[in-house]
Amino acid sequence: MLARCIEGQWRLDDVDWSQPKATLPAQSEREIVQYFTDMAQIERFAGALFEEQRRRTRDPVLAKIFATFVADEERHARAAERLAERFDQRQLRAYAPSPSLLRFKPRFLRVLAHLSEEIANAYIVAGELLLDIALLRSIDDYVDDPVCHDVMKLINRDESRHVAVDYHMVDYYSSPEWQRELAKRPARSPREHASAALAFAGVLATARPFIVDVFIEPMTRVDPTRRRMREAFKRMQLLGAKPGVAARPFSRFLRALRFLYRTRATHAVFGRLAERIVGVPGEYLRDLYTAEEWDRAAGMTLDQLADDALAAKYDGPA
Ligand SMILES: [Fe+2]
Ligand SMILES: [Fe+2]
Repeated sequence: MLARCIEGQWRLDDVDWSQPKATLPAQSEREIVQYFTDMAQIERFAGALFEEQRRRTRDPVLAKIFATFVADEERHARAAERLAERFDQRQLRAYAPSPSLLRFKPRFLRVLAHLSEEIANAYIVAGELLLDIALLRSIDDYVDDPVCHDVMKLINRDESRHVAVDYHMVDYYSSPEWQRELAKRPARSPREHASAALAFAGVLATARPFIVDVFIEPMTRVDPTRRRMREAFKRMQLLGAKPGVAARPFSRFLRALRFLYRTRATHAVFGRLAERIVGVPGEYLRDLYTAEEWDRAAGMTLDQLADDALAAKYDGPA
């Protein structure tokens, strides 16, 4: 994997930016430039999560792999900024990251130090599936521009390495080895608990408007049937089919919220709360998979599940 990571590095100028530009209607131009402006920031969030994992891992090869991912995400951020410039053809207005994103950002960065590696990885799995399977591909189809296609092809190549390692880490965090590692750690002091709880409260309070502005609203615009969005959430749910993964605290937490959401008696009270905590409208908290898909996922290794998620990205019907 490390060899692949080193070999897979590329530069923005490897893309021929002089290819003819697709012209968008004025309203679409405003939206697409805004999406790319926000996307640059999200790529940097992903970079921050990988940097945190790099800092903490004691495996020197993994540390090097994560360092290449940090570089990849910064390159994606700069590619997004350059695409924003490319589509800002009429200079209709000034663009800046969405206010909800800017409110979320410092809270997100603050919580990183309190997150366990396992939870940091759960966030990155969710982010990469949403950004990768869902949002990027939908925007790329929507704008239908030769430079955008070339950039996305290169970004996707990087992201397939990221997803493979993300899933590998999910596997590790559901292993007895990780349990033993956790058991060796000193218990947190009440003060640490309190400051972690406070940092989490800040994230939860600002996550929903951020996710709506940056993922859900753009997705609804560029993929009105929301097929790809459901696909990404389904991939996350299917990770819970693996017994080792299902037993971990983060999965149990997500499952409990989904249970409260689905059960008629608790829906009225807890449904909205569940949406608020998970940060997505309830549509995505329902079960999105069939019984066969669940059984199939349960029988797959994490590597196979990663391949499966990536195959959905490349081969899924438009
Ligand atoms: Fe990325
Ligand atoms: Fe990534």
